[in-house]
Amino acid sequence: MEHKEISRAVIKRLPRYYRYLGELLEEGIERISSGELSERMKVTASQIRQDLNNFGGFGQQGYGYNVAYLYTEIGKILGLDQKHHVIIVGAGNLGQALTNYTNFEKRGFIIKGMFDINPRLIGMTVRGIPVYPLEELQHVIEKEQVQIAALTIPKGQAGEMADRLVSYGIKAIWNFAHTDLNVPDDVMVESVHLSDSLMRLSYRLSSETKRMDE
Ligand code: NAI
Repeated sequence: MEHKEISRAVIKRLPRYYRYLGELLEEGIERISSGELSERMKVTASQIRQDLNNFGGFGQQGYGYNVAYLYTEIGKILGLDQKHHVIIVGAGNLGQALTNYTNFEKRGFIIKGMFDINPRLIGMTVRGIPVYPLEELQHVIEKEQVQIAALTIPKGQAGEMADRLVSYGIKAIWNFAHTDLNVPDDVMVESVHLSDSLMRLSYRLSSETKRMDE
């Protein structure tokens, strides 16, 4: 189906809709009204209608949204109907934790290998996924047609590694290193900083405490 140009703000909210719709499907719920979805998601019904109207009239008056259809369409918009091959660079605590999380595969993200410089880790497997030396990086990226590289190495190494990955054809970097990466315009970087969300939590806790002290 044809989709209108969707704003970045809406795109940012789509994964959350996708997650909730997936849960509804697991519960066997076939239809949901914007009101019911609003109650579950703690988002106003008008926001939901506005967001979902962006890509066609999924909702019908008196019928609500067809959960499976909406789930599939949002999945397509997010590119989840395709498989993406992923590598993890840095097979330490975080790299291994990501590899151990099986749900990424359910979303179509297939981890093809981990890479590290530590000889004690090289040759090891995590859930059957091998840790390779860096010498294998280009070969694995090309052979497995890897599109996404997760960077879970110290920040001092991240810039140089990003350049190397880009030179081997990587188009998307999932950056966990606490540094900004300078990459060409056609390379996407999505940075994740868990500490940022902890700080937001801290802010909310401290403003709540202040409010109670007043
Ligand atoms: P770790 O020390 O357990 O693992 C880092 C791994 O990277 C080690 O196995 C090391 O041998 C490897 N490594 C170092 N240089 C490399 C290179 N040039 N190429 C390939 N491998 C290399 O550390 P941990 O806890 O896994 O954290 C990894 C990174 O992620 C750190 O920079 C940390 O600050 C960051 N981090 C970020 C979070 C976030 O929310 N963004 C959360 C947790 C950690």
